[in-house]
Amino acid sequence: HRDLIAISQLERHEILYLLHEAQQWIGWNRQASKHSELLSGLTIINAFFENSTRTLLSFEIAGKRLGADVVNMHAAQSSVKKGETLIDTAITLNAMRADAIVIRHASSGATQLIADKVDCPVLNAGDGSHEHPTQALLDALALREALAARGEAAEDFTGMTVVICGDILHSRVARSNLLCLQALGAIVRLCAPPALMPAGVEAMGAQVFHDFDAALDGADVVMMLRLQSERMSGQFIPSAREYHHLYGLTTKRLGLARADALVMHPGPMNRGVEIDSEVADMLDRSIITRQVEMGVAVRMASLDILTRPARGVEGWSR
Ligand code: CP
Repeated sequence: HRDLIAISQLERHEILYLLHEAQQWIGWNRQASKHSELLSGLTIINAFFENSTRTLLSFEIAGKRLGADVVNMHAAQSSVKKGETLIDTAITLNAMRADAIVIRHASSGATQLIADKVDCPVLNAGDGSHEHPTQALLDALALREALAARGEAAEDFTGMTVVICGDILHSRVARSNLLCLQALGAIVRLCAPPALMPAGVEAMGAQVFHDFDAALDGADVVMMLRLQSERMSGQFIPSAREYHHLYGLTTKRLGLARADALVMHPGPMNRGVEIDSEVADMLDRSIITRQVEMGVAVRMASLDILTRPARGVEGWSR
């Protein structure tokens, strides 16, 4: 079976194909009646070992709108709390003959570990600071939609400059977006305090900045990330006030980017820390709620494509 673990495992044409497939669900999701029988009879397990609002709900909604039976396992209420290992949990889920398993876990590599133990496709809903592939795909779809709404429709982002600013060190969203945006032709600038910038990102093709004002200069898109204090151990943790002063996106700072630069944030947001409410709520510039909407379409397309072999349909392109 083919899994969706990381953008690094996808070819550019596969990313474009998944976005193409997601496109059809955007208008469909805006209808009053939203029920398809495409995945009727399939069982999807969402196993979340970390908190989530957007990813869990959108995978659940995506599965249900496609007619599948969707079951959610929250680690806090599971036998993980009684000491069951990740591998035994995977074997247990597999024995229930799920047709797809969606995993979120605090450890990088946990999703691959489970994928190696089960018979059905596994979708990574975020593993530690490794990857969050469906987030990068929904971000790409949201960006495409926003550009199309302005009459700038394009298949990819060739020539565009995207700034990703925040706690890059701990961010699976930053890694997946760096890979996805670059695969689609964008120039990616990563900006963080020195202690929150991982080594090796320049070798991955990113431009590295520690001065947010310099990073914003002439940017087409500004993607803000929160400080992931739950993943920090012994590192420099800036105060919210200090962080906002140096790296918070204010209306004034946004003025350094292109006049029509778009603002993105995967959520959850810490308003007043990495982003001001005034910016987050800008109707003509912020596409944060559009990102959430695109999450359902991308997860519908992902569940459809990955379960095709089990349904006797050809996989990534048909
Ligand atoms: N963007 C994102 O992954 O949000 P959740 O943690 O709420 O799922």
